[in-house]
Amino acid sequence: MATFELRGLIKAYGKTRVIHGIDLLIADGEFVVFVGPSGCGKSTTLRMIAGLEEVTGGEIRIGDRVVNEVDPKERNLAMVFQNYAIYPHMSVRQNIAFGLYTSPLSKADKARKVDEAGALLGLTPLLDRRPAALSGGQRQRVAIGRAMVRDPVGFLFDEPLSNLDAQLRAQMRIEIKDLHRRLGTTIAYVTHDQVEAMTMADRIVVMKDGHILQAAPPMEIYDNPVDVFTARFIGTPSMNIVPATQSGGVVTLAEGDPNLLAGVRPHDLLVGSTIADPGLTLTGTVTAVEPLGPETLVHFDVAGRSIIATAPAHGPVTIGATVTALAPRGHVHLFDAGTEKAMGRA
Ligand SMILES: Nc1ncnc2c1ncn2[C@@H]1O[C@H](COP(=O)(O)OP(=O)(O)OP(=O)(O)O)[C@@H](O)[C@H]1O
Ligand SMILES: [Mg+2]
Repeated sequence: MATFELRGLIKAYGKTRVIHGIDLLIADGEFVVFVGPSGCGKSTTLRMIAGLEEVTGGEIRIGDRVVNEVDPKERNLAMVFQNYAIYPHMSVRQNIAFGLYTSPLSKADKARKVDEAGALLGLTPLLDRRPAALSGGQRQRVAIGRAMVRDPVGFLFDEPLSNLDAQLRAQMRIEIKDLHRRLGTTIAYVTHDQVEAMTMADRIVVMKDGHILQAAPPMEIYDNPVDVFTARFIGTPSMNIVPATQSGGVVTLAEGDPNLLAGVRPHDLLVGSTIADPGLTLTGTVTAVEPLGPETLVHFDVAGRSIIATAPAHGPVTIGATVTALAPRGHVHLFDAGTEKAMGRA
């Protein structure tokens, strides 16, 4: 078990800085998920922790040891990638045992560890199969098993589920989370997938352009995003943002150059709502209607801006109609229009 700590961590390729001095302490046993747009430096950060990429400046600590110059093998971390390399000519058992290839353990101890990992991952009935006879999710579990048998102090996952279909991803999400609960190992996990980040993380780290914007528990980020970027990045569909003015707790759409931006999540902006005294009211022409089953997303146009609101299932909303959507007080996020930093709620 171990903490991972990044102190003023910098990475440059040639003269180009891609990580700009980030600080982060990942607690022992914590599950931290890195999210951010493509190219923001998630994989680079993970690869520096693993020792696969040299550090340009700052420090990486595992436990209380600075590991900047420590060989990847000596860091005792397990890495699982999107393109997990499992060997087609080896059985599941042999593939998992490959993780112990250089281990000094006795043959019997190795066999026991492989059996334990197989059992923990639900692979026991499949141990003698070849990878070709496994589903994508089962193959991913073999790759995790191979990483697990080494008793790593932490796991590093770089988009491990992105090659799987939606149903398998949903299943593996639960399995990895469950594995974490049982092993209690520190995990740093990179994903593009909102749902993975929200459901698996103890803490989400939102990155942009080589900086950390916010590192907080999922619901804290969802409820209190620090800026417009984070507000729009976490939550699906994205938070609506409109120029606004505020007076007496009520926010109204503004023309011209406002000094406020108002943000409201589609799930807080309700078509056909009869709440009295709303915090924000938006009216516009419907451009698209998306029935999702339990609710319907309504896209409408307000002064040239595309807004998404929620309507009840089987609602009468049609394209071209005029709709009014209301957000209750307390559910309107306010941002400074210049800095785009959060300023609380209305
Ligand atoms: N070997 C390299 N040489 C030069 N630049 C690199 C190298 N590897 C990565 N970069 C650059 O560093 C930045 C961060 O890349 P990184 O792979 O960490 O992004 P990422 O957040 O993992 O993106 P994605 O979500 O697409 O995987 C990008 O601008 C990328 O082009
Ligand atoms: Mg990446």
